[in-house]
Amino acid sequence: MVSEIKIQKLAGVMGWPISHSLSPQLHGFWLRQYGINGSYVPLAVSPANLESALRSLPKLGFSGTNVTVPHKEQALELVDVVDAVAKRIGAVNTIFVQPDGSLLGTNTDAIGFLENLKFFAPTWQPISETCVVLGAGGAARAVVAALVDAGVGEIRLVNRTLARAETLADDIGGPVSVHGWEVASQVLDGAGLVVNTTTLGMQGQPPLDISFDGLQSNALVTDIVYTPLITPFLEKAAARGIKTVDGLGMLLHQAAPGFEGWFGQKPHVSPELRAFVLQTISDRDI
Ligand code: ATR
Repeated sequence: MVSEIKIQKLAGVMGWPISHSLSPQLHGFWLRQYGINGSYVPLAVSPANLESALRSLPKLGFSGTNVTVPHKEQALELVDVVDAVAKRIGAVNTIFVQPDGSLLGTNTDAIGFLENLKFFAPTWQPISETCVVLGAGGAARAVVAALVDAGVGEIRLVNRTLARAETLADDIGGPVSVHGWEVASQVLDGAGLVVNTTTLGMQGQPPLDISFDGLQSNALVTDIVYTPLITPFLEKAAARGIKTVDGLGMLLHQAAPGFEGWFGQKPHVSPELRAFVLQTISDRDI
């Protein structure tokens, strides 16, 4: 009897460099957890090779790929179809190979951000909320798009380089006002959500120091930086009794839609997954 050949499902993450990415460990955890015959591999692809690498995906039998720094904007130009959310954010982080071999690009960072907030702060209500977003880089675009779509009342976008914040506000639309870094503490007045999307507070970077004096009493403070997990910004907020949400969950939640599309299983962001990824981070630091 001829034994049935089981085709392995394949996905990966393209970046340059790629060794820092936690996605192979994260997806590997889910593949083992669900007993899926599949692999998720790190792919070191230079910007010059991105187009040919993406076009090779269907030929190699890949179901799709993540793209990370520095490819997220270029990928948007290269795929065949870009969905509405990726268009709005101006970047693609997840690509699905379609049955006809064409490439569909989406962006799961916005949903990852919101799911993380919902998970750790289930009572927080976005509708009509006054929000402050610090930073106007790639991550801020996803956060602002997520908040606008969730129906918040106002977003005060604060950035060192004002022009960058103005461009972001124009691109995404919605109730967004733009402010310079020097008024960062003042714009927190009356806010119910503060999000740090800058690199301040990341390992090796100076801390983000801001006054939380004017915040609503039930405000939520969150950071998308997760190395360290508890940034000085979150530490200072927590010391004042303010509810905080760390950034690791955004990484975990943004991975879920890709995993489901490539491997056919909706994955669960569990405490065990979180502990496993945290352990991976701390093993790397040694
Ligand atoms: P990402 O794509 O991860 O968001 P990025 O595009 O490099 O990263 O954006 C980094 C953000 O951190 C930007 O908002 C940057 O401000 P500028 O647009 O003015 O560069 C912000 N940032 C980095 N270092 C900063 C500092 N020392 N003070 C204030 N903001 C800083």
